[in-house]
Amino acid sequence: MVIFDYTEGLRLLTQRLYESRKVVVLTGAGISAESGVPTFRDALTGLWAQYSPEDLATPEAFERNPKLVWDWYAWRRDMVEKAQPNLGHLALAELEKRLEDFTLVTQNVDSLHQRAGSRRVLEYHGNITKTLCSKEKTELSEFALPLSTPPCCSLCGAYARPGVVWFGEKIPVDVLEKANAASRSCDFFVSIGTSSLVYPAAGLAEVALRFGAYVVEINPEPTPLTPFAHFVVQGQAGQVLPRLL
Ligand code: OAD
Repeated sequence: MVIFDYTEGLRLLTQRLYESRKVVVLTGAGISAESGVPTFRDALTGLWAQYSPEDLATPEAFERNPKLVWDWYAWRRDMVEKAQPNLGHLALAELEKRLEDFTLVTQNVDSLHQRAGSRRVLEYHGNITKTLCSKEKTELSEFALPLSTPPCCSLCGAYARPGVVWFGEKIPVDVLEKANAASRSCDFFVSIGTSSLVYPAAGLAEVALRFGAYVVEINPEPTPLTPFAHFVVQGQAGQVLPRLL
C-alpha cells in the first residue's frame, strides 16, 4: 500500500482526472450543504430527521393531502431560491468548460449547478422549480409561483404538483438512459455528497466500477460506496473540488 499525504494525493487525483477520456460526476444533497440547503439524512439537520418521506415525498402522500405536500415543497423552493451556489458547484461548472467529455448527473432538485454555470445537467430527481400535471406528468408553465394552494391543470383539471421524482416513481427515461450510458462508458467517475443509499442513482457508481472506471468519492462521511471506491477524499465538496481543478 502506498500512503500519500493529502496534498500529494489530490495532486495525483487531479492529474488522473485531466488524463481521463470521459468523466462522470454524480452529486447529491451534500454538495449543496455548504450553500445552507439541508441534506436528507444528516442525523440532526437532515430533512428526513424532521419529516417523514412517506407523508411528503410519495404520490400517495400527495393524493392524501395535496396541500400539505404542495406547501412543504413551496417552503423548500423558497429556501433553495434564496441559497447561492458554493465553491463546489462553481468548480464543477468550470470542469465542464475544461473537459471535452464531461457528464454531470445530480440527484438535487435545487438548480444550484445551473446557477453556478453548469450547462449540461442530468436532473435525476427532477427540479423543484418546475410544476407538473399530477395526472399527465406534463410540465405546466402557466403558473407564477409561489401559490399557496396547488392550482389545477387547465387541460384536465387534475392538481398541479412539484416537478420532482418521488419515492416509488420512475426516473425520467431519457435521463436514466443517458446517465447509465455515461456511467458505463466513462473512465473516471466521481460520487460527491451522496449517501449512496437511494437507487437507481446509487447504482451508477456500481455500473462505473463494473465497467472498469476509476471511482472517486468525496464525502466527509463513509457510505456504502466507500469500501469499493478507488480513491476516497473525506472532506467537504466546497473545499475539495476547487483544489482538484
Ligand atoms: P443524503 O442526505 O442521503 O446524503 C447526503 C450526503 O452528503 C451524506 O453522505 C453526507 O455525509 C454528505 N455531505 C454532507 N455535507 C457535505 C459536504 N459539505 N460535502 C460533501 N458531502 C457532504 O442525500 P442524497 O444522497 O442526495 O430523493 O439523497 C438521495 C435522495 O434521497 C435525494 O435525492 C432525495 C432523498 O430522499 C428523493 O426525494 C426522491
